[in-house]
Amino acid sequence: MRVALPTGRLEDPSWAWLGRHGFIRPDAGGRRLWVQLCNLDVAMVRGRDIPHLLAEKAVDAAILGRDIVEESDVPLWASGDLGFGRCRLMLAVPKSAAAAKRPLRRIATRYPEITRRWLSSRHMEAEVLALGGAVEAAPWLGVADGIVDIVETGTTLRANGLIAIETVLPCYATLVTLSGHGAIAESLMNEGRERGRAVGEA
Ligand code: PRP
Repeated sequence: MRVALPTGRLEDPSWAWLGRHGFIRPDAGGRRLWVQLCNLDVAMVRGRDIPHLLAEKAVDAAILGRDIVEESDVPLWASGDLGFGRCRLMLAVPKSAAAAKRPLRRIATRYPEITRRWLSSRHMEAEVLALGGAVEAAPWLGVADGIVDIVETGTTLRANGLIAIETVLPCYATLVTLSGHGAIAESLMNEGRERGRAVGEA
């Protein structure tokens, strides 16, 4: 079986999760982006590429943040909360704008699909500006009145004079496969349980 893990903030906790299921990372801290373990090949790739790699059948399953699952147009099966990677996708605005209750005309985000759906569910009309990252700079640059982005500790918002005003989507790490292939993930978890037991017994 071939599994993808996202690089970045979910990489270490994803390996810790695999480790708890008996799959130990052989070169922790190394630069290698793929490893072969007994019965399991693991590739470390950008989270946003994972839905496409699943669609291409380059990997059978992956660990992924719910934010990417919901933003993707690839039909995916998701296991639900694995118990790590918890954070929130939030609407945030400059502190001064929050105090003045200024209307939102334009929102910058790396999550245009989720943001459009959320705006429509709230019957709010605002333009969505899709950016590749560093969206917290957008209000200061004058290209947006607010942002929708991941908030974990809130440090990045505070550092940029922003304040979160609403949760758009609670997020967590989840096991994913292509839609209709959930049994693959079940077998990974079952095998992991067996291996975990064997590792525990050793
Ligand atoms: C995310 C997000 C925020 C930051 C929030 O970026 O885009 O900028 O984390 O975290 P905080 O609330 O703890 O400050 P990340 O560091 O994951 O990098 P990325 O933009 O490359 O995804």
